[in-house]
Amino acid sequence: MTHHIAVVGGTGPQGRGLAYRFALAGHTVVIGSRSAERAAEKAEEISTRAADNGATVRLDGATNADAAAAADVVVLAVPWDGYDALVADLAPALDAKIVISCVNPLGFDAAGPYGLTLAESAAEGTQKAVPGARVVGAFHHLAALSLWKTPDPLSHEDVLVCGDDAEAKDLVADLARTVTGHRGIDAGALRIARQLEPFTAVLINVNKRYKVRSGLHLAGLPDDARA
Ligand SMILES: NC(=O)c1ccc[n+]([C@@H]2O[C@H](COP(=O)([O-])OP(=O)(O)OC[C@H]3O[C@@H](n4cnc5c(N)ncnc54)[C@H](OP(=O)(O)O)[C@@H]3O)[C@@H](O)[C@H]2O)c1
Repeated sequence: MTHHIAVVGGTGPQGRGLAYRFALAGHTVVIGSRSAERAAEKAEEISTRAADNGATVRLDGATNADAAAAADVVVLAVPWDGYDALVADLAPALDAKIVISCVNPLGFDAAGPYGLTLAESAAEGTQKAVPGARVVGAFHHLAALSLWKTPDPLSHEDVLVCGDDAEAKDLVADLARTVTGHRGIDAGALRIARQLEPFTAVLINVNKRYKVRSGLHLAGLPDDARA
């Protein structure tokens, strides 16, 4: 099944990488930005990259609000700073939609990255701000560069998916195939985003220490968990 996916903040590396993968998989994708012009330029860049890999994709650019309003699935790929204000602005366009948050509220100091101590995760905050949205947390642990560097499936990685709407979570677990080639892993209720979001700080530390782009792969799952 193909979807009409808006990537809010799709001009950044994470949104660009996810948009590229979704478009290659045949979804209709709209890059969102605060500037329609920047969004159009990024859509062009992604289309060109897809063409270089022999693929023709359906990709466009628009303001965040226009992109979200036209989509059935909206990915929020913006920084934590300013996130609440953006979600409040976009609330009418997010209502009743499947909304995926990959946002990691992290702080950085001399000792490196760390998860901010918050009363709730970014994903839960989104759900509270837009009660009619079907919010799912996913794609927190994929490095932007890994998404963009090749079109090949990241088959050694898992996408951990959390949410309170079983149908929406199932759809997003399936969408994870576009990145890894296999289903995302059901990690639990939306509140589990409180654990998933800050874990990215661990990966960033590992990346720095070993000069890699690390990801997550769970051991001990049954064969059909990723089918
Ligand atoms: N980078 C990664 O490897 C990675 C991996 C996993 C998860 N994530 C998460 O994904 C999200 C996006 O990451 P990123 O590295 O792509 O971020 P980014 O480059 O800092 O920002 C993405 C886009 O968000 C828009 N933006 C910036 N400040 C904004 C504000 N105050 N209000 C509204 N829009 C704003 C900008 O687009 P316009 O100026 O065009 O509007 C920007 O291009 C983050 O929450 C991050 O934690 C990132």
